[in-house]
Amino acid sequence: MKGIVLAGGLGTRLLPLTKITNKHLLPIYDRPMIYYPIQTLVDAGIDDILIVTGGKHAGDFLELLGNGRDFGLKHLNYTYQSGEGGIAEALGLAEHFSERERICVILGDNLIEGSIRDAVDDFREQPRGAKILLKQVPDAERFGVAELVGDRVIGIEEKPAHPKSNYAVTGIYMYDETVFDKIHGLTPSQRGELEITDVNNMFIEEGTLSFAHLSGWWTDAGTFDSLRRASNLVSETRRTQG
Ligand code: DAU
Repeated sequence: MKGIVLAGGLGTRLLPLTKITNKHLLPIYDRPMIYYPIQTLVDAGIDDILIVTGGKHAGDFLELLGNGRDFGLKHLNYTYQSGEGGIAEALGLAEHFSERERICVILGDNLIEGSIRDAVDDFREQPRGAKILLKQVPDAERFGVAELVGDRVIGIEEKPAHPKSNYAVTGIYMYDETVFDKIHGLTPSQRGELEITDVNNMFIEEGTLSFAHLSGWWTDAGTFDSLRRASNLVSETRRTQG
């Protein structure tokens, strides 16, 4: 399985911190933000990785990460997203890289405590479709929110004012090769973006979306509060795990 880290977008929610650098290069405790999602993929046994980035500071990623030696990698791939057309647009840029293999996608501002290895291994055995990871949160209205009936996800709503559950859809997604056909069929949402939630709902309609519950803590880091929270969680984990 190939891995894709989505680190495009303009990070406007973190201005002025993102005026002179990219959001994913900001520090989370003792490392740049992008280190964490890359490490999550590597820990799951994924070593063929593409970084999708954009904006004025894209060159800094190359300088920081090079060929991925800090992660024990021999090579890293990069591509460039112009503007901020949405998560699904950024993912669409990975079509060439994917070579019709299965992919594991992680948002560049998502940090987790544990491992996704079991979920990735389960998805390898899944005949087709997609797999998402859910986490119960107190502020579901900030995220894509899954509606569950029994052991099935029957729909996902993007940032609903009145969430139907407290299960956030984390920014870790696994897809088969049909994801790119689905992205080609998308139209921009009201906020002018190609939405990953629309893609996931297409897999739900097809009956091929599975899910697992993510264990350990999970956070994004795209707002001032979540950026601080992410640093606190990492420092606490380092302290307790040594
Ligand atoms: O963190 C999980 C949430 O991420 C999900 O629950 C939501 O369903 C999903 O839409 C997303 O919500 P956000 O509003 O938090 O996404 P945001 O615009 O902050 O983008 C998250 C990451 O995606 C960002 O760090 C880099 C990547 N991205 C985003 C956009 C808009 C891109 O690579 N290109 C883009 O154009």
